[in-house]
Amino acid sequence: MSFIDLNDTIIAQVREAADIVDVISQVTPLKPAGRSHKGLCPFHREKTPSFNVDRSRGFFHCFGCGVGGDVFKFVMLTERFTFPEAVEYVANRAGITLPRKSTTKTRDADKEELFEILDEASAAFHQSLGWAPNPAQAYLDKRGVSQEVRANYGFGYAPDAWDYLLTRLGRKYSAEKLEKAGLALPRKSGSGFYDRFRNRLMIPIHSEAGTVIGFGGRTLDGSDPKYLNSPESAVFNKSQLLYNLHRSKQNIRRLDRAILVEGYFDCISLDDQGVPGVVASMGTSLTSGQASLIARYTKRCVVCYDGDDAGRNATLKAAPVLLAAGLHVEVFNVGRGHDPDTFIREFGVDRFIEEISNSRPLIDFALEAWAPDVAAMSSAAKDEKLAALAPILSAMSGVSRNDAAQKTADWLRLRFDTVWDRVKGPSSAIAPSRQGASSSRNTSGEKHLLAAVLRESVPAELLAQLREEYFGDPLCRAIFHAWCEMRREGGIDFNELGTRLRGEDETALVAELVHWPEVLPNQLEQIVGPMERSWIESRLDELQRRIQAAEEPLDPLLVEKMSLTRTLKELGKR
Ligand code: UTP
Ligand code: MN
Repeated sequence: MSFIDLNDTIIAQVREAADIVDVISQVTPLKPAGRSHKGLCPFHREKTPSFNVDRSRGFFHCFGCGVGGDVFKFVMLTERFTFPEAVEYVANRAGITLPRKSTTKTRDADKEELFEILDEASAAFHQSLGWAPNPAQAYLDKRGVSQEVRANYGFGYAPDAWDYLLTRLGRKYSAEKLEKAGLALPRKSGSGFYDRFRNRLMIPIHSEAGTVIGFGGRTLDGSDPKYLNSPESAVFNKSQLLYNLHRSKQNIRRLDRAILVEGYFDCISLDDQGVPGVVASMGTSLTSGQASLIARYTKRCVVCYDGDDAGRNATLKAAPVLLAAGLHVEVFNVGRGHDPDTFIREFGVDRFIEEISNSRPLIDFALEAWAPDVAAMSSAAKDEKLAALAPILSAMSGVSRNDAAQKTADWLRLRFDTVWDRVKGPSSAIAPSRQGASSSRNTSGEKHLLAAVLRESVPAELLAQLREEYFGDPLCRAIFHAWCEMRREGGIDFNELGTRLRGEDETALVAELVHWPEVLPNQLEQIVGPMERSWIESRLDELQRRIQAAEEPLDPLLVEKMSLTRTLKELGKR
């Protein structure tokens, strides 16, 4: 898939050529109804059709469950495709051949050489593991790691020498190149280089596509760190990758579930024993890049970290990050004294899979882990726990957030409102899009207005008055921005609008809004007025802050403040 050269022009071509009614009819029968087509929604159970498809604009939208988007979104949802896969699928149906990327174009020559070096280094480490006796082999023997695992996961040994790799690869590549690949270091005194990895068990780390991009090197003599990892480089970015993803991504998608562990060995043990869909975060705290990587393949993640306090705390820290990526999170706690590796060795793979399928909702785990002794807790202690739980609750959405807040209230023996206030309060992990009054502003007015904009039924005078910043909702703002740009550069074309909107959320909102009922021009005026006022107020707050901070020339700030204050007064008179 990644070998296809996707750019906006091609995507627009495919979108243009696709017949959304044809694609969707494969999944649910559609009947013409007025300007659009109607059918039963494939995404929720219903008896009367509320699923609408607009052929000319290329959007679908369900009034029952709110799902919507373009043709790509539809096949991403029904086929669990990634975006490039969706484009390829739709292109095939529409009879368009997509241009292939040539490998040199995909990865530039420099990177290509780094991949080559890393691959050869991996082979060199693997080879030296076979030269017995050596400490890595002894360690693996002691740990009961089979020959098969050593081969399948590409284990290797970096000998206890300063120049094993430098000598092996030195004939072909310069020491500077090896340094770029994270394998060599310049000597502190004078000239020359030495091997970064010495006397370590080497575990190769692959990219999502399966290329070796770095190593984790486990100590064999107790020296620190326990795992020495490749340094950040042009090809190795630890915060944007997950160990084992290239092996497990198909299963994650197929089973619609990822199992997240911390360690290399946890991951390898489970994967080797046939537990499908396991990836490792590699110890350090989970990043949002790693969470969105998971979210590309599934919406469900079972966290299975070490059973000790550190693992528990890491779980609770990773949770909001996973939730914020839109994942549904469950937890399987392997129990004190265990990690997933030792658990499966002691209890076997069947037991592990059973436990995974019985894993518990995150909130249950969090409450038990954090507040096991509610009866003995003081109000102050409860307050503290509530503050700790707030980021998790706040990162949840919709019904699950509500349920979790209710559970928290029950567990801590508090009123629902007491918990709910904290969830939405300033400690919330979801930052409001704009400070002050506007953050809690009702966005339905904005949406009506935007719907009218998209329908081109906003009177010209009112449209001229409307500014992008007036929209408090970031999605509405992004759509309005794209729409204005398009209008400036030519004309309105929904196919192109779809291409300009980067996010799925934006596309879904457009799809929804084109179906919204019309409102009258004077109702629109009543929407724009308060939007403008609210924006001016928050802008004035900001100006005031900057004036007081006095960290920049004040004149322009004062001029703007005066003019806005005047406008605000006039608005008040209207
Ligand atoms: P652990 O210390 O739990 O390692 O760290 P482990 O995987 O259980 O290791 P074994 O079984 O004792 O060999 C979990 C993960 O954190 C990362 C590694 O990815 C490790 O697998 N880590 C840990 C580092 O990157 N550097 C370190 O120094 C320690
Ligand atoms: Mn561990």
